[in-house]
Amino acid sequence: MAGGQPVFIVDPRKEQTKGKDTLSMNIAAAKAVASIVKSTLGPRGMDKMLVNPLGDITITNDGATILKDMDIEHPAAKMVVEVARSLEDSAGDGTTSSVVFTGALLEKAEYLIEKGVHPTIVVKGYRLAAANAVEVLENMAVSVAEEDREMLEKAAKTAITGKATQKYSTLVAKLATDAILTVQERGIADIKRILISKEVGGRIEDSEFVEGVAIDKVALDRNFPLKVESANIALIDTPMEVGKTANKAKLQVTSIEQMDLFVKEEEKGLFDMADYVIKSGANAVFCGKGMDDKIADYLQSRGIYAARRVQAEALQKISNATGARIVRNIKELEAKDLGHAGLLEQDRDGDQGKTYLRDCAAAKAVSIIIRGGTEHVVDNVGRALDDALWVVKSVFEDGKVVAGGGASEIEVALALRAYASGISGREQLAIQAFADAIEEVPRTIARNGGMDAIDSILNLRAKHAEDKNAGFNVFTGDIENMLEKGVIDPLRVKVNTIKSASEAAEMVLRVDSMLKAQSQSIQDVKLEHRADSYDAMAPGPTMF
Ligand SMILES: Nc1ncnc2c1ncn2[C@@H]1O[C@H](COP(=O)(O)OP(=O)(O)OP(=O)(O)O)[C@@H](O)[C@H]1O
Ligand SMILES: [Mg+2]
Repeated sequence: MAGGQPVFIVDPRKEQTKGKDTLSMNIAAAKAVASIVKSTLGPRGMDKMLVNPLGDITITNDGATILKDMDIEHPAAKMVVEVARSLEDSAGDGTTSSVVFTGALLEKAEYLIEKGVHPTIVVKGYRLAAANAVEVLENMAVSVAEEDREMLEKAAKTAITGKATQKYSTLVAKLATDAILTVQERGIADIKRILISKEVGGRIEDSEFVEGVAIDKVALDRNFPLKVESANIALIDTPMEVGKTANKAKLQVTSIEQMDLFVKEEEKGLFDMADYVIKSGANAVFCGKGMDDKIADYLQSRGIYAARRVQAEALQKISNATGARIVRNIKELEAKDLGHAGLLEQDRDGDQGKTYLRDCAAAKAVSIIIRGGTEHVVDNVGRALDDALWVVKSVFEDGKVVAGGGASEIEVALALRAYASGISGREQLAIQAFADAIEEVPRTIARNGGMDAIDSILNLRAKHAEDKNAGFNVFTGDIENMLEKGVIDPLRVKVNTIKSASEAAEMVLRVDSMLKAQSQSIQDVKLEHRADSYDAMAPGPTMF
């Protein structure tokens, strides 16, 4: 016995919340995240202006970007953000929908828990509902043939409608489709092979797709070959010049002959370097560091292309695409270290410009060069392109799409309500709640489009009796067949949205106590779940 003294098993200075308090705090935090991004959802969503501590401005309605830049502190809100971000990494789109859906799932769960349904029952019902919802989506999905460019472009356009660069959605969708169809191999498209470079200055319309690698470098001057057919490429990541000594050193030269000898020796060292390149059989050299003019002249006189101070990233790109090995000790350069490209071509504008490597031997690589008047424009096109690439990849790889504009969510909600009626026990309530929650996505799309949220959902539900692909045309306020309108989402995005949102909601619902270290960093916050502590919360029989 402790003799009436309180027993502290946890540092009493730690802030501790339990049971219902923890839950309602966490739900409130997750709902707050949802309410921030809600207004950006859908083609007529608003933008957010994000300003970082340095005063840099980003204007976007991309959920992932907003959440990343918001520096969210609350642990439960952080969990929601993490799950949404993992969605961005696996499907590249759908983050805003997933966060809005998570918020709605938690709001409905809170209501049920207040009425006496235990959180574990809610979690169980949500899991049943999520599995069922995925089946519904799979059944309503439409197949897309691999070579069906039109459908791929439509999916890409749907993903970027409403992003700041909507005016250029046709162009961006085409760039993304070209890139994915070119890099794909046996039905899989590796986005890492698509190299995106951004150029401020110029018009968006001049953005281009290049088969091969495009790097922001040209040869030292215009006397180097502008074109090298069947290029054998050497990549050298060491200075091709006379090195400075690390410590200050003095060299005393006492006669002109000695001076001559010294200069000759130095030159010999330089020519030796050039000879290693020539001997290897290379007819193009990219050097990551400086290159002495004497070496450059020597190479040029032999018709060899040479570029210096090429960024490490570009060297790596060339290496991946052409199979060249990046050599650090030039003496070791051999023919087997060289990479190959069918054609090397310079596009010079004075001393600036680009070098293109086409028909690369090692891997199919493509480049997209985004051009635009200001950094903001270029960044925005870049974000839209990123979404489009992911969407085209998903549709190409899976060959499945669902109708957009709220059609798939309404179809899932209707199917879940029918499914719930066959489930006995309180899980039924949770499944119904799940159905209500998923409708929050089309409701928000409609509301953001200036439509009446209640009427439009009711009308859409009714319309689904005859057309399961009916959705909102937010530009006219009508309900139309979304497949015919070309508003389509990848099945993968919609499935992952449901999975990630129910996962996030489950994580929040399972936490029943929180221990927070005082005045320490956020890492010290610990979330726990204990199976029994909700029992105290349930106020006996429920009203259902
Ligand atoms: N023209 C359109 N008419 C109606 N709905 C559309 C149209 N274009 C897209 N949508 C719908 O908008 C939703 C996507 O909106 P949005 O891109 O803003 O959010 P997200 O994809 O969930 O998140 P994020 O793109 O920020 O990661 C999808 O449900 C899609 O079907
Ligand atoms: Mg999107």
